[in-house]
Amino acid sequence: MGQFFELGETTLNKLARVIAVLCFSTAVAGQAFAAKTLDDWMETQQAKSLEYILPNLSPSDAAAGVVVAASSRSYPDYYYHWVRDSGIVVYSMVQEFERLGASSEKNQLAQFLIDYVTFSRANQLTKTLSGMGEPKFYIDGKAFDGPWGRPQNDGPALRAISLVALANVWMKAGKENWVRERLYDGKIPSYTVLKADLEFTAHHWRETCFDLWEEVKGVHFYSRMAQRRALIDGAWLADRLNDGAAASFYRKEADKIGGELLSHWDSSKGVLIPTTYRDGGLDYKNTGIDSSVIIAALHGRTNDGFLSVTDDKMLSTFERQVVAFRNAYDINKKNQIKGLAIGRYPEDKYEGGSTEDHVRKGEGNPWFLLTLGFGEFLLRSAAEFERKGSFTVNSTNAAFFRYIGVDSNAGTDELVKAMRAKADAFFVRVKYHATSDGRLPEQFNRHNGFGQGAKDLTWSYAAFLTAAAAR
Ligand code: NOJ
Ligand code: NOJ
Repeated sequence: MGQFFELGETTLNKLARVIAVLCFSTAVAGQAFAAKTLDDWMETQQAKSLEYILPNLSPSDAAAGVVVAASSRSYPDYYYHWVRDSGIVVYSMVQEFERLGASSEKNQLAQFLIDYVTFSRANQLTKTLSGMGEPKFYIDGKAFDGPWGRPQNDGPALRAISLVALANVWMKAGKENWVRERLYDGKIPSYTVLKADLEFTAHHWRETCFDLWEEVKGVHFYSRMAQRRALIDGAWLADRLNDGAAASFYRKEADKIGGELLSHWDSSKGVLIPTTYRDGGLDYKNTGIDSSVIIAALHGRTNDGFLSVTDDKMLSTFERQVVAFRNAYDINKKNQIKGLAIGRYPEDKYEGGSTEDHVRKGEGNPWFLLTLGFGEFLLRSAAEFERKGSFTVNSTNAAFFRYIGVDSNAGTDELVKAMRAKADAFFVRVKYHATSDGRLPEQFNRHNGFGQGAKDLTWSYAAFLTAAAAR
């Protein structure tokens, strides 16, 4: 009898496995969902994200130090070194380098980071159509001279932010000389990549440029938040290296950028708007809703509280955006998964350049890196409220607190708990649409949730890693 029972169990198990395999191979979206709790999935996905990023750093057919935006070479061709994507990715790689214990990954990252410095300096010295704000390079470092939205001046700022983070880690390891020789020589004109990015940013932040989505020319909230942070972080380093005059110049310019950033507030809509003074590019963005404003609070964050993740204008913008994206996508309206899927902006027409059957040309979709960013925003915001130990509801932020589900009678503990739960809903959404082996492309379809756009987008994985670190 015992034996029969055991046999029966084994057969049942086998059957279950067969069924599981069948389901897994037919349904791409949702397959990771049933398998694990969110905590388990986050842990696995963290390891997977690093595993999938590494092949995109210095791939064997590229110059050392290259970050390809994705491994995809056609439909779409993302096999280039984008200055923006690589700055964002390198920032998270510096974090990973610090997190990892002695391992082959850590060694690989150390070498890559050094090569990134060399390759980036070569980019600066390459003659391109738009100079320092040139958005992307071929993987051998040659200039890309095809038509493109240029310049994109968030690039040098994001690169500078990543390099200050690197300088900090290297200095802690006693390598100040290396930092002076390769990153910040304090000279004008500079022979080093970070100092050159800071000088460029300090002198050119007023100029209009294309936005991070490479579509609209004008003055952009995201670009200026990145520029402001670059100068503040850069000033910190300049002080450490006894370059006080440069530090105070960078701080002064950062202050002026701050003043300009406040003019993005549209009090009638309750949002910080992404672009002012449009002077070229797309002209059909009119809702004032663009998730890059929220991502700006992450990539542009400093510790001075300016337009931070607890700022009333930011909180109001966050709530307005959540409402807009809820209404923009079928998969949000269906409400099967409580977390919302977030895209670039409601009027978006970029389907990601992929050509699978489910792709509708000319229709924008939610993005993994943005859905992750919204979760990260709430986590960082919750942590800041926790540090402050209090919060005040007022007419600007009231809608945000209503969305979180707390009122002015609630304690900070209750608020923080509710915000973390809301943050997790965004991660549950990502978990639902990721493949079972943790692959993240650029987008997922707004009607059926299937992945689309560039496969293995490097920035998607970096966004996961920074969100996981915040969690
Ligand atoms: C490629 C750009 O990277 C993307 O942001 C933009 O939406 C499309 N081109 C428009 O065709
Ligand atoms: C399109 C995105 O809009 C842009 O931000 C990014 O730099 C490129 N794709 C490459 O990933």
